[in-house]
Amino acid sequence: MTAEPLLEAQNLAVRYPNGEMALHDVSFKIKSPSFMAIIGPNGSGKSTLIKAFLGLIRPFRGTIKVNGFDSVKNSGKIRKMIRYVPQRDRIELTVPMKVKDIVLMGRLLKKLPPRFASSKDIKISRDALEQVDMVDLWNRPFPELSGGQRQRVLVARALASDGSILVLDEPLSGTDVESQDLIVEALDKYHKENDVSIIMVTHDLNPIHTLVEEVLLLKNTVIGIGEPCSVMDPELMKKVYGPTARIVEYAGHRYCMTRDSGIDRHD
Ligand SMILES: Nc1ncnc2c1ncn2[C@@H]1O[C@H](COP(=O)(O)OP(=O)(O)OP(=O)(O)O)[C@@H](O)[C@H]1O
Ligand SMILES: [Mg+2]
Repeated sequence: MTAEPLLEAQNLAVRYPNGEMALHDVSFKIKSPSFMAIIGPNGSGKSTLIKAFLGLIRPFRGTIKVNGFDSVKNSGKIRKMIRYVPQRDRIELTVPMKVKDIVLMGRLLKKLPPRFASSKDIKISRDALEQVDMVDLWNRPFPELSGGQRQRVLVARALASDGSILVLDEPLSGTDVESQDLIVEALDKYHKENDVSIIMVTHDLNPIHTLVEEVLLLKNTVIGIGEPCSVMDPELMKKVYGPTARIVEYAGHRYCMTRDSGIDRHD
């Protein structure tokens, strides 16, 4: 555990080379350790924020720090702490790797060459696949899996590798309710048992809102931050998702219905 905040942005702005200002005037602080969600509509800068704190994009203005380390000055240190599951459509599928190779890669990449899997690496990788109910597919070629199965394998790879922060960009997209539950439960268990922080981008907060401690709501700048119920505020949601967004309270929890999550299509 560290006294430094998990994430701290000060007046952060990120601009792509084509002039697109994806983030502007972003300032916030999230304590560590935490299970946090980053939410917001398409194009709101969620993936950009991740790329900024991983040091993959330089800020145009301002700073962002991870556990006190600056994304520009200490990017090497940050990458050692973080395991990153990118947004699915960016994963290379032309290489005919097996499920086991994908998960073991999470461990082997942090070793010096020559990289051989030890029996410990194999055990940890199998345990991680077990968590998401995928261990039976150990020898299956990864590109043959369905989209939801691939997501589960990628989550297992992140669970199997080392690092005190897990960053997942939309791990629930394209998965059915059963896969979502498996992924969310595996992450929650892992967070609680290992003192690991989890930063998860999600399109729909509903599957995880009872588990996450902090939510950052973005629309190219910070619209809301805090515990899920305070961010699930009708006015904030309308500001971001438009006038059709609704908040429903059920069994002591607040659920948000937007056209994004598809629940209010009949209203
Ligand atoms: N490589 C890039 N070059 C130029 N503009 C980009 C690039 N990547 C993203 N953008 C733009 O920056 C803005 C934020 O994009 P970003 O990918 O961070 O959004 P997002 O919140 O992750 O969206 P989604 O929910 O669709 O994944 C968008 O307007 C997008 O068009
Ligand atoms: Mg994205």
